[in-house]
Amino acid sequence: MARSYYIHTFGCQMNESDSQRMGEALARAGWQQILAPDAADLVLVNTCSIREKAEDKLFSALGRYRLLKAQRGTRIGVAGCVAQQEKEKLLQRAPFVDFVLGPDHLDEVPRLAEQGGVATDFLDTEEYLFPQADPETSRGRATAFVTAMKGCDNVCSFCVVPYTRGREVSRPYAELVREVASLVAVGVREVTLIGQNVNSYSGGCTFAELIRRVAAVPGLLRIRFTTSHPMDLSPELTRAFHEVPQLMPHFHLPVQHGADSVLQRMRRKYTIAEYERRIAELPRDLSLTSDIIVGFPGETEGEHAQNLAFLARTAFDNLFSFLYSPRPHTGALLKLAEWGEIPRPLALRRLGEVQALQMARTNERRRARLGGEVEVLVESPGFGRSRENWAVHFEGDAAVGDLVRVRVQGTSLVALRGAQEAVVVKAPVFEPPARRRLSVVNA
Ligand code: 5AD
Ligand code: SF4
Repeated sequence: MARSYYIHTFGCQMNESDSQRMGEALARAGWQQILAPDAADLVLVNTCSIREKAEDKLFSALGRYRLLKAQRGTRIGVAGCVAQQEKEKLLQRAPFVDFVLGPDHLDEVPRLAEQGGVATDFLDTEEYLFPQADPETSRGRATAFVTAMKGCDNVCSFCVVPYTRGREVSRPYAELVREVASLVAVGVREVTLIGQNVNSYSGGCTFAELIRRVAAVPGLLRIRFTTSHPMDLSPELTRAFHEVPQLMPHFHLPVQHGADSVLQRMRRKYTIAEYERRIAELPRDLSLTSDIIVGFPGETEGEHAQNLAFLARTAFDNLFSFLYSPRPHTGALLKLAEWGEIPRPLALRRLGEVQALQMARTNERRRARLGGEVEVLVESPGFGRSRENWAVHFEGDAAVGDLVRVRVQGTSLVALRGAQEAVVVKAPVFEPPARRRLSVVNA
């Protein structure tokens, strides 16, 4: 009987994709995935450290897995950003953990699962090889993430990511386009190019050229990417939004704050006027989403008012707003006493104001689509996403991978509801694979 593993993933799309790569490495070494931890021989927790809350989740999850270990001798591994941040210190804090691996060591998970230990060095840029996705893992799915680059060379003073993910390294475009083609060959119709700062891509061509090369893969219907820094939004990328039909009209462009003085303390390298100039060039029907940090050290009532005024005049389709959370190894943590920590009740009040403003806007934008049609790529029966990346639940019999038109009958903050009108493009029909490389058993 093969040994079994269970992966618990926190955090961003990069972590989801890393979890898939670790699963593939384990499968190659004879491990089988199971979908619940109770019967697993190995539990792997892939962690996020973007805010303190994310880190707390790791330790409460580990508390549960520790009991499993006591009962059944389950092996426990910790991967991802907290692993990279804490390194061997994690073993002191949680001595029942058998091994710790950083994001540069995904392929080593089978060895570490056998031997235990810590692998958290960063590899030199020249040495780093991006793990290749096994397309079989994506067979039967309509969408897939494709890694374009890793790491981040920016120095935003709130952010731990440059520390947990290291320097920027881009994946050579030929390798990436080959991966996209292999995914399309098993039925994938939409890819999301991912990287911590994906529009600073430099793997042998510019990011805009990369999008055009990916768009040239026959059978691929949709391209998305995430996440981006406003300073790397080139005129060429703006043009791609106007000219490449496969590039979906959704752009997540984190602004972080609406006051120049705060942006400066955050070391964001742009002003609000510059941000506004750049987004003004984007197509009119594009859905723009953003991130905002509230309660950044030293945020005055005046800066908060500027933030609200900026948000009120900018037509963000949706906004993810966060309370500032001090992170280790960051510039803002060093300045916290000097700039002044914002008391939690005050920060919460400001967050409430930001969220109320955006909620009203998001609701209004959704309701404006009532009675109209949206084009949906079906991800599971009765569910898919519109071109703007809105979640859509619909009545209809379309198959996974079909592109359908849906009449919008209801809206909420998080999703649209509607009825299937017509299939625009049928999903391709494939022969079943001759040999399944990966198998999943239910525990
Ligand atoms: N505190 C709060 N939010 C943060 N983010 C990144 N670091 C922090 C932090 N220390 C937010 C930013 C980023 C998103 C992924 O998380 O808005 O764009
Ligand atoms: Fe979390 Fe950032 Fe790491 Fe993703 S890269 S897992 S968001 S800390």
